[in-house]
Amino acid sequence: MTPDGATALACSNIAFVKYWGNLDPALRLPFNDSVSMNLSAATTTTAVELDHDLQRDTVEVDGRLLTGAALERAVAQLDLIRARAGLDARARVVSRNTFPMGTGIASSASGFAALTLAAARACGLRLDEAQLSAIARRGSGSAARSVPGGFVDWHAAATDEASYARSLAAPAHWDLTDVVAVVSREHKAVGSSGGHAAALTSPHFAARLSLLPGRLAVAREAIAGRDLARLGPMIEEEALCLHAVALTSRPPLIYWTGATVSLLSQVARWRSDGLPVFFTLDAGPNVHLICEGRHAPAVESLARGLPYVESVLVNEPGGHARIVPPVARHPSSGDGEPERGA
Ligand code: DP6
Repeated sequence: MTPDGATALACSNIAFVKYWGNLDPALRLPFNDSVSMNLSAATTTTAVELDHDLQRDTVEVDGRLLTGAALERAVAQLDLIRARAGLDARARVVSRNTFPMGTGIASSASGFAALTLAAARACGLRLDEAQLSAIARRGSGSAARSVPGGFVDWHAAATDEASYARSLAAPAHWDLTDVVAVVSREHKAVGSSGGHAAALTSPHFAARLSLLPGRLAVAREAIAGRDLARLGPMIEEEALCLHAVALTSRPPLIYWTGATVSLLSQVARWRSDGLPVFFTLDAGPNVHLICEGRHAPAVESLARGLPYVESVLVNEPGGHARIVPPVARHPSSGDGEPERGA
């Protein structure tokens, strides 16, 4: 029998109001809504090929076969999609990232969004964007936000089907730019899933939640109005607040390095010199420098000039997860047509 296959591409995303803590960890139902922007240069391309002759699923990421917990997590996601399609064929999965994993650029977001779309297509499922987003969420919460395009809003909800993300605005709406300053490529000791579980032990967790409705309103209004002067101070406050929760969790999670702290102070200096740039951070040491497109070349060159910055990745608002032509060594499968929501 000819194997069925499909290849999908998804962008990672950076959250302006973040997901940190699960109401239901098994279903990855978050405590709060979150708002993000997809990242055009931080993408994952994943090919899924179903093969009835395979004994077990194999998953290769950037040339390495996954084993242990990482493999189990990908297999669980494949199982979810196979169960929905009523299929039991095993899969050969090959995935490529354009950015380093485990460094605060969310590889799980683009990874599970691409895996979900490619596997759903390979299994012959025709799902709308909301359904794909809800399924991607089960693999990694932030992956729900990598299914729709541009600027994205993920709703916290009480049920599996109701917690999905949708686009607030298309990529062309605003030329907001995320200049990611990579200060460390080391794999972080505690991943996001551990961080979500630990978050509830912080005395500051409830305080942060109480502040989020106001921040979400600012994020939605500032995106609608392309207002960086409104968005910027809020995203810095929110990132520091998330790290205050992480730092005061049991066990404490210290994601920063000395270079992270130096760069945070540097951003304030650039701003007082007249450059409108703001920072945010995910669960890692790297700093996301948020500015408008016209200031991105200056921000990029200043970041590259810092001795502790290893590399820089410039992202415009990225598109939605989509089916793409197969990459080399995979038989023809994708149709090149983007998968759009219903
Ligand atoms: C700090 O989506 O990586 O980047 O659901 O366990 O895979 P899992 O967590 P993940 O958490 C992302 C945390 C964050 C904030 C955010 O992206 O909203």
